[in-house]
Amino acid sequence: LNVVHVASEMAPIAKVGGLADVVSSLAKAHQSSGLLTEVILPKYDCIQYGEVHELRQMSELEVPWGPDPNRTVRTVVWSGCVDGLPVYFIEPHCPEKYFWRGKFYGEPDDAARFCFFSRAALEFLARRQHEAPDVIHCHDWQAAAVGPLLRETYRASGLSRTRSVLTIHNMAFQGHIRGSFLQHMGLASRASHVVQPDIMLHHHHHQGQQHSQAAGHVSINPNGMCSWSNATLNLLKGAIVYADRITTVSPTYAREVLGEQMGMGLNGVLQRHQYKLAGVLNGLDYETWNPATDPCLPAHFTADDTAGKRACKAALCRELGLPFDGDMSPGPAAATANGHKENNGHNGTHYSSSSRNGGPSGLGPGGGWGPNGRPLLAIVSRLTEQKGLYLMTAGLRAAVEAGAQVVVLGSAPDPKVQREWEDLAREVASGGDARIMLRHDEALSHRIFAGADMLLVPSLFEPCGLTQLIALRYGTVPVVRETGGLADTVRDVAHSLVPEHERNGFTFSATDVSAVQTALHRAITAYRDGREWWSAELVPRVMRQDWSWTQSAERYQHIYSAAIRN
Ligand code: ADP
Ligand code: GLC
Repeated sequence: LNVVHVASEMAPIAKVGGLADVVSSLAKAHQSSGLLTEVILPKYDCIQYGEVHELRQMSELEVPWGPDPNRTVRTVVWSGCVDGLPVYFIEPHCPEKYFWRGKFYGEPDDAARFCFFSRAALEFLARRQHEAPDVIHCHDWQAAAVGPLLRETYRASGLSRTRSVLTIHNMAFQGHIRGSFLQHMGLASRASHVVQPDIMLHHHHHQGQQHSQAAGHVSINPNGMCSWSNATLNLLKGAIVYADRITTVSPTYAREVLGEQMGMGLNGVLQRHQYKLAGVLNGLDYETWNPATDPCLPAHFTADDTAGKRACKAALCRELGLPFDGDMSPGPAAATANGHKENNGHNGTHYSSSSRNGGPSGLGPGGGWGPNGRPLLAIVSRLTEQKGLYLMTAGLRAAVEAGAQVVVLGSAPDPKVQREWEDLAREVASGGDARIMLRHDEALSHRIFAGADMLLVPSLFEPCGLTQLIALRYGTVPVVRETGGLADTVRDVAHSLVPEHERNGFTFSATDVSAVQTALHRAITAYRDGREWWSAELVPRVMRQDWSWTQSAERYQHIYSAAIRN
């Protein structure tokens, strides 16, 4: 099997979020199980070229592009190797300088940039002297034009047996572009008879309209213009219609997107194409994310010996300028001396008996480690509405109030959100119990996942989510909202219907502030009083769970095979 991923991100060289991690780690998992796997990316100027090996110009193409069917854009394709994976980079030489913007997304012409990228990827695959791929695996709206183009334009040009699989990582991003763009994409000439352009139109909530769209009429204006040229195309919608198979990144999210609320306008289309939709849970790259070997960490640890985690916490506190309780005299006295309401409602001293401390896992008493210590709560996230911003701030305050320490590593693409969090960072810094860092910092994220005791993920929706999986791998207990992939991966410690070894965190389902506060209080109490956390050896237990790609990579292989049989 020969698979080419077409994607706008790839870790570690071009990463904004989880999409990047998934593209590289899925591709690597497939490569090691014998699939021929390649990746096509835009040649952004802001790629971390230091991590690209054997980069060289490979071929030059003329990619058809523009309202004039004879106009082409000279495009250089580069080849390179990232972490052992063959990667091709698309570099258009056009006045728009599509990928010379110093950033990946957030440009007014994003839709055009990535439509071009999709078109060029197909042009490259159709022309290269290789065997055609069996499957083109397209990720999100940025690769969404591949499906329609493959079917309508490239079937006749060498890619007749190639099938497309679309993975939707996030329904919130769909890619909108004006209808006249069909012409740019080389689809217009076929619009009146082959393409059903209305299939790519933006979904209207009105039932009747939706129906006539489904029937596939193309209306011609009195002046002979097709009606679509004034409409808005929805690229993701086109991809859904044309893909041979569709996946989303968790089983729960695959169900959720069929509903009005999470379908974000495309639930109707997805329902009609449900027969080819599946939810496949993301895995984690167990080499990149390995607390026993992670080069970013000051100390290493495993489920059998978690002592190194304590050293990571101490180092992280030192780095952040947060007091590490280990620097003080251990035990409940140190906690209260710190001026926090440590024992509010809970008889903290009661659980400090040394009999429950120590033990085979090396979790000892006092020292910020074990009963009566201060838990360190982390947030590592893009700071966007999806992630539950108001639940984060409420949770952060509640945690500090309850005597926990908090560290936030966040990246805010929206300047307004950035300013709000800068204010919050200043406010909490003065209290001495919380640190907010507003930037993207890969290495620091590793140190936080390893050094923290718990991770808060209060997302309003979450297609899969990777941070809770990384946290589990690093013995950091997740506190999450039950939605999408979070609901598929985190089981509350108090959930009596699931076996104990599957219980791995604290969950809540409501979207009001009190829900996150309650969950955090439960987590902090559990950390302090020891019953769930220490006696049940929660840390080594969550570390032993398997969130690697093993099962999911195999599921994708089955999906590829099914697409090929189409
Ligand atoms: P999403 O893709 O929606 O942002 P995921 O949980 O799937 O959410 O993936 C987020 C990825 O980005 C994880 O690998 C996480 O560690 C990383 N990440 C998020 N914010 C930051 C940040 N500020 N610095 C470093 N890494 C971050
Ligand atoms: C998206 C989703 C996230 C998912 C990631 C990788 O960014 O927001 O939930 O984990 O894609 O699939």
